[in-house]
Amino acid sequence: MARYKEIGLEQFAVGVIGARYVGLATGACLARIGHWVTCVDKDPDLIAELRNGGMPFFEPGLEELVARGKSEGRLSFEDGEALAGVVEDSDAVFIAVGTPQGDDGAPDLSNVAAVARGIGRALAGGRGRENPLVVVNKSTVPVGSGDYVTTLVREGAGDAEVDFRVVSNPEFLREGSAVHDTLFPNRIVVGFDHPEVGEFMRRLYGPIIERSFAQRDEPRGVVPFVATDLASAEMIKYAANAFLAVKISFINEISNLCEITGADVKSVATGIGLDERIGSRFLEAGVGWGGSCFPKDVNALRATARKNGYEPTLLDAAVTTNDHQRELAVTKLERNLHTLEGKRVTLLGLAFKPGTDDLRESPSLWIARVLHARGARVVGYDPVVAAARLSSPDLEVAADPYGALSGAHAAVVVTEWEEVVSLDLRRAAALMSAPRLLVDGRNALDPAAVRASGLTYEGFGHG
Ligand code: UDX
Repeated sequence: MARYKEIGLEQFAVGVIGARYVGLATGACLARIGHWVTCVDKDPDLIAELRNGGMPFFEPGLEELVARGKSEGRLSFEDGEALAGVVEDSDAVFIAVGTPQGDDGAPDLSNVAAVARGIGRALAGGRGRENPLVVVNKSTVPVGSGDYVTTLVREGAGDAEVDFRVVSNPEFLREGSAVHDTLFPNRIVVGFDHPEVGEFMRRLYGPIIERSFAQRDEPRGVVPFVATDLASAEMIKYAANAFLAVKISFINEISNLCEITGADVKSVATGIGLDERIGSRFLEAGVGWGGSCFPKDVNALRATARKNGYEPTLLDAAVTTNDHQRELAVTKLERNLHTLEGKRVTLLGLAFKPGTDDLRESPSLWIARVLHARGARVVGYDPVVAAARLSSPDLEVAADPYGALSGAHAAVVVTEWEEVVSLDLRRAAALMSAPRLLVDGRNALDPAAVRASGLTYEGFGHG
């Protein structure tokens, strides 16, 4: 199958539209495995920053990979004006733009629509290749959107005859390990309705599938390539995130039952996780899930269900349990402090999880809002979320954890950063005011050590 024109042996020209989180990680990793990648974004400031060696967000290892791609001449950045040229010169164009949650819970597809129409317009202007353009959709879109992307590309092309194929290639990378997850995924999922494009995708991802570039201590073996139809590929993305969200809500419900019955959720998680059918990961109880994916994707799936007359009871329950966990953090504070009015509370960690500066749907912001509304003074500390980035009437951001803890009646571990887990607890106790409560919202600290340092400890799902 050599329909696709190659620049070199299994090296393709690839355009990636959208140079933020997913697009940048995808582009840099495709360059790393030997392709020639142009990342395009409509934001000229972002493109200027990337060209000048800047990094628009915090993601371990990505800056180095981008620098490497640029220095090898395999990775370049262009603003929206360049789209037509990139479509003309590329074998494949990835759509990797945001699909934020709209008011009704369904994702807002306007960015995807604009890019797909733009690709159509560019295709109508002609292409320097005889093989059809492969349009790879990486943005998380509702099930059935593969056809929607096809419709939009055609719409953009107007009356012109255009030759392209749409592929759905969902993204499973986690913030904080985006580079590793892209280069060493546990599977690659590709949905398509023309067999030859499935084969093209297999070749494009060849080095990742074969792990041919792995160093000595990196994972080996062949990565499973799941070839399926467009709708199933889109559903795999939603189902994977929904399953993980449900799994966390499940252990949180068990954790609440542990508190009632005197069991310890950490032991319970270990005990059930050793059953291979259950698995030990994503069984950490606490203040629940946040971030840019779980809340948005679970809500999108619920919206798809409702639109089609189906009541997604399990997904609804997962969201209810997750909301309850944040409330529980506040309940634990109120129970110990009696009133929040006039109390000083420190939030240790603000990002929705360690390893990222992302605050989207972070439990910290919800907890800060409620505490502030109930009269508490809230001070937050996070190793990467600086005060300059977070202007909120609900909380102040301190530059170091001990400054944040000074005079606090209580502290809540919201994000289990290493800097938070390894705090000098005696120093914290000396700085805080009675009752010196520590609510461990991630069960990340050793309760005995916390108590021994003179603090009152409250975890989730254990004594
Ligand atoms: C997730 C998916 O893991 C990834 O595959 C997908 O592509 C995007 O969504 P991400 O949002 O980066 O990735 O974070 P993840 O590590 O999955 O954590 C999500 C949330 O769940 C965090 O708020 C985390 O603190 C919480 N969590 C995770 C728990 O509360 N308990 C756990 O046991 C695990």
